[in-house]
Amino acid sequence: MRMVDLIEKKRDGKELTKAEIEFIIKGYTSEVIPDYQMSAFAMAVYFQNMSENERAALTMAMVESGDQIDLSAIEGIKVDKHSTGGVGDTTTLVLAPLVASVGVPVAKMSGRGLGHTGGTIDKLEAVNGFSVEISNQQFIDLVNKNKVAVVGQSGNLTPADKKLYALRDVTATVNSIPLIASSIMSKKIASGADAIVLDVKTGAGAFMKDLDQAEELAKAMVDIGNNLGRNTIAVISDMSQPLGLAIGNALEVKEAIDTLNGKGPKDLLELCLSLGSQMVFLAERTSTLEEARTLLEEAISSGKGTETLKAFLQAQGGDPSVVDDVTKLPTARYQIDVPAKQSGYISSIIADKIGVAAMLLGAGRATKESVIDLAVGIELKKKVGDYVEAGEAIATLHSNQENVDDVSKRVEESYTITSSKVTAPPLIYKEIR
Ligand code: URA
Ligand code: CA
Repeated sequence: MRMVDLIEKKRDGKELTKAEIEFIIKGYTSEVIPDYQMSAFAMAVYFQNMSENERAALTMAMVESGDQIDLSAIEGIKVDKHSTGGVGDTTTLVLAPLVASVGVPVAKMSGRGLGHTGGTIDKLEAVNGFSVEISNQQFIDLVNKNKVAVVGQSGNLTPADKKLYALRDVTATVNSIPLIASSIMSKKIASGADAIVLDVKTGAGAFMKDLDQAEELAKAMVDIGNNLGRNTIAVISDMSQPLGLAIGNALEVKEAIDTLNGKGPKDLLELCLSLGSQMVFLAERTSTLEEARTLLEEAISSGKGTETLKAFLQAQGGDPSVVDDVTKLPTARYQIDVPAKQSGYISSIIADKIGVAAMLLGAGRATKESVIDLAVGIELKKKVGDYVEAGEAIATLHSNQENVDDVSKRVEESYTITSSKVTAPPLIYKEIR
């Protein structure tokens, strides 16, 4: 086989075989195939797309390019949840203990990553003492004991995807449905998931800005999962405004605790119940989604969810008493309100602009070397559809710098206020199975 022939084949819109795709991914990972040929191939895929069989083969070839985590020593069906990302998405912090509390194992591999806030691991490190530095054996033992543990990503998971994603980033080929879908699914499968719940976000703050695109991506991932024997479902949810009210690391831990106590923002609770029921259902803990939802609601009202969170934090060195006393979380020196310029109804909040504002306060990483300030962030006081009086706070900045006029201005500019009544956008658009 020669790479040049395979590039030509794809360029002309023909279907590659499984063996040909394996040849490309093996060759690229071992540096036999150079970046310039892989770039041409990615561009050919960008224009010519891939069939369902090609997508599954590409995913599996990337899974096999590195380590595959073996979770078979954990009892039960391991369901993983993945979100395509957004602003202030606190769902993992709520879902991990909540789903575990009804007996479904949550073996979470998570990252730090770049973004408006830290990743799940950074957020959890806002709890004094918490650490993901545990061995694979400890990880497995903890999931069997408490039904939940979080570990950092292994160094050699899907190296082909790492290499290809970096190449796509500089060759204008990121935005290709088959390449995005196989990239995401390869990481989930390599980290040992038996079944997968996908939260595909749509709207200004999301990777997929419009609903049609989000739906196409969701369908592509569900097809890959099912094709490879992993029961997969997707929920398409709104990210036109930030999810919940908190954007920041410690602020989101507090928001997650509030939500587990039944006192969190309605939209965050609703999305967690929806994704959580899918997880419980795929784990075959219940035979219907309705039963799954009832179990999760009971775990919130009975306090089982927060008890599981305490056990989980304690098992990984964290101080469990923060769950009963959130003032033990890191807090910022200054709390600065952003006032509304006029009275009226909030008609939009540009999620990614709020995200950048949180990052400017120090909540996220711009580069791998950036140091995160766990205490800072933004607390929204108003969401789309709410009424606000001129001068009333639309948001509060939690900052360790005193002068944050530029951040205040950004937050203010993210909000649009109109005189006529506005209805909030739907939270969940569609479920795809
Ligand atoms: N996220 C990924 O992990 N991969 C992509 O290709 C795009 C977004
Ligand atoms: Ca949030």
